[in-house]
Amino acid sequence: MISKFNRKDLISLSELTKEEIEVILNVADMIRTKHKNKELFVPLLGKSAAMIFRKPSTRTRVSFEVAMFQLGGAALYLSPNELQLGRGETIEDTARVLSRYVDGIIIRTFDHNEVIKLAENATIPVINALTDFSHPCQILSDLLTIRDKKKVLRGLKIAYVGDGNNVCNSWLFAAPKVEMHISVASPLKYAPDKEVVKKAEKIAKENKVNLIITENVDEAVKDADIIYTDVWASMGQEDKAEEKKKEFLKYQVNKSLVKKAKSDCLVMHCLPAHRGEEITDEVMDGPQSIVFDQAENRLHAQKGILALLLGR
Ligand code: CP
Ligand code: NVA
Repeated sequence: MISKFNRKDLISLSELTKEEIEVILNVADMIRTKHKNKELFVPLLGKSAAMIFRKPSTRTRVSFEVAMFQLGGAALYLSPNELQLGRGETIEDTARVLSRYVDGIIIRTFDHNEVIKLAENATIPVINALTDFSHPCQILSDLLTIRDKKKVLRGLKIAYVGDGNNVCNSWLFAAPKVEMHISVASPLKYAPDKEVVKKAEKIAKENKVNLIITENVDEAVKDADIIYTDVWASMGQEDKAEEKKKEFLKYQVNKSLVKKAKSDCLVMHCLPAHRGEEITDEVMDGPQSIVFDQAENRLHAQKGILALLLGR
């Protein structure tokens, strides 16, 4: 199963095929079963991963560190301020040097191009742990969660409500690929990246699924199997938070919005949530919310990714 994956890096879901996504989910599922059965599975024995995080993180950092450890390897958390990167060493040289020590690099940063440059200059796998442009590990974990709950992905409709951000971009790449319908509702000013939408529309057309970008939140959630939201102001946009709070008022995921979707609609949020803004307590803690299963699956999905990329 593992040999089917011939990719060096995980940078964006736009690059992955449907089959590759399935392989990641299946390997993750297999490793999760072993973990739940308390079976030792250590394909990364003796391997290490460097983690460069230019932004804060709870889920991604902890789940990657624990995943490396549970797979038999080790993770080194490297704050850029303590690396020579913070004193002007280039990302290219950092890539070349780290490639001599470790077996993989996990990076969370602002500029997506930094991840691309890192990967081009590293001889070891590079994993995107979030950029301003995308968050592929999150959406792979989310697909695993949805598959667990709904048993299939094909034919489901996901309604993404909120900011057309990194998480939204990754959903736009992923959903049509796995033959899910997707609608995105956001204020016009915060609609997703046009280039991303163009690429996603092409895949949606090939796979005969619907893709709707709208300002109308009711239209987006109609017949939805999943409502998904994320913070209105992402990391790095703190100065825009107050302004955005006003602009996104209509886009709150609350009980009355959830009622407009299918009766068995599930609610997802990548977290961290700003409770009372993009999602109410009532919905987040309510029976349709699967946000903590979703958070748990970061660990399992990333084990799949690590085993496939570093386990060769
Ligand atoms: N969802 C997510 O990536 O969370 P962290 O920012 O806590 O890693
Ligand atoms: N869009 C959010 C996701 C956090 C996991 C951000 O970039 O801050």
